Amino acid sequence: MDLMEMFFISLGAAVVVYYGVKLLLFSRMLYPKGWFPLPESFFSYMGEWAVVTGASEGIGRAYAFALAEQGMNVVIMSRTKATLDQVAKEISDATGQRVKVVVTDFTKENVFSEIEDQLKDLNIGVLVNNVGMLPSIIPCKFLESTELDQTIIKVINCNVKTTVKMCKIILPGMENRGKGVIVHISSGVASIPCPMYSLYSASKVFVERFSQGLQAEYKDKGIIIQAVAPFGVSTRMAGFQQTNIVTLSPEDFVKSSLHHLRAGDKTYGSVCHTVLGWLLQSIPRKILYADCMLNISQDYVRKKQHRRYQPPHQVQLLKMEDTNNLE
Ligand SMILES: NC(=O)c1ccc[n+]([C@@H]2O[C@H](COP(=O)([O-])OP(=O)(O)OC[C@H]3O[C@@H](n4cnc5c(N)ncnc54)[C@H](OP(=O)(O)O)[C@@H]3O)[C@@H](O)[C@H]2O)c1
Repeated sequence: MDLMEMFFISLGAAVVVYYGVKLLLFSRMLYPKGWFPLPESFFSYMGEWAVVTGASEGIGRAYAFALAEQGMNVVIMSRTKATLDQVAKEISDATGQRVKVVVTDFTKENVFSEIEDQLKDLNIGVLVNNVGMLPSIIPCKFLESTELDQTIIKVINCNVKTTVKMCKIILPGMENRGKGVIVHISSGVASIPCPMYSLYSASKVFVERFSQGLQAEYKDKGIIIQAVAPFGVSTRMAGFQQTNIVTLSPEDFVKSSLHHLRAGDKTYGSVCHTVLGWLLQSIPRKILYADCMLNISQDYVRKKQHRRYQPPHQVQLLKMEDTNNLE
């Protein structure tokens, strides 16, 4: 065998090993529960309380429920007190855990000293930095957003600043205790540059990079910090789309994402979204960003919006509001 032949055989073997390892690592994401099992008392071992931002509905509400079911007391935060109170009652009735309500608007300036005050005596083991806002569900170009100046401030405050500030408040306690979990909800659209959702997707890229950097900094302190990047989850933000193999219910998504907690510093949180993320990155950008594709996606979302439906708990809340209005 001459030198050239040896070189090509070694090169071929290296390529096979490289892709073999990649495939093996990818295949672990198809069965996270088996590959990354969590001990039974994992969450309550982390601390007494879990804090979930944007927890009055959707993904945040599902995290709050799931963590209470794991034996944690929960702090739930959002703007609407009536909805938070209702969710707090549902959680404590169902799980017997304590629930603390914090009413706040994360798009506003100067809200964090009051939040810090409200959290200061709690032993916080889990933070779910979930709150996020999408300027418009119908995809549109940056300059076409309504009230652009206000939108920029709100998106940066809610999606970016809140993520960082909540970590600043809660991470020191975790570092002192040498344990904790921080979950940052990013988005599948942060996987590639995402025209028509540019501001939103860029804010989620920040969330991911911040989260991954932080994990590298605090891994040896026993703290798990993970970015979770879902695609479709049937919530108000996503226009309450019908659930199917790609669009999950918040409860199914959260259940699945918690199985991925030890699957690395970034996860799509579910098998179908992992495959979707992989597919999205494989499509040539030239095709994805073609004008006709952008128009198709805009029309598709617009049409979907006409087929909205209300989930059962939302209907119940609306009915309660109607009853209150009658009184
Ligand atoms: N749903 C999806 O398909 C999807 C996909 C990818 C990523 N995500 C991300 O997942 C996270 C949760 O989204 P979701 O779909 O569950 O949204 P959602 O159903 O619309 O719920 C948003 C939650 O955040 C609260 N909230 C919104 N704006 C707030 C503000 N300014 N201050 C305080 N609380 C606020 C809302 O309550 P109030 O209105 O009462 O304040 C609600 O509890 C977001 O970060 C989102 O970007 C969602």
